[in-house]
Amino acid sequence: MAVLSILTYPDERLKQAARPVETVDDQLRAFIADLEETMRAGPGGVGIAAPQVGDFRRIVIVDISSKPKHPNHGRLVLINPEILQWEGMAVGREGCMSVPDFTGNVIRAENIKLQALDEQGELKQYELAGFEARAVQHEVDHLDGLLFLDRLVSRRNDLFARKVYQK
Ligand code: NI
Repeated sequence: MAVLSILTYPDERLKQAARPVETVDDQLRAFIADLEETMRAGPGGVGIAAPQVGDFRRIVIVDISSKPKHPNHGRLVLINPEILQWEGMAVGREGCMSVPDFTGNVIRAENIKLQALDEQGELKQYELAGFEARAVQHEVDHLDGLLFLDRLVSRRNDLFARKVYQK
């Protein structure tokens, strides 16, 4: 396993859309293990998307279980994720390993229904809420070349310099 290097804003590659995964095999699982190690090595790493390490395939990992007051499914590996339903709206503060110097307030759906392949290539459906739903929406955005910076209502009011990256 290996910790991969993270692309950071304003790297243009972060705007590139990712393509679907065609085959879920051992080679893909080895990449996912590296991607997960990279996420866990980062400060506050509750999610990562493959494009953040320069791999433009539709793969994200989310694990918010380090924040136990938020209900969650534990470690989620989502391959070719598709959000099927959105419900409710909430404003929340987000950070990103690719935008290390800032956090921002972003509006997201409170509840989502999602389908994705798991690491065995099986299609699964999930109902996600709150912070976990937010984290998944943030990571799926990376697959479409979007950062939370692109979703700020106002850079002046909703963007905050980060002095110390909080775990
Ligand atoms: Ni991010």
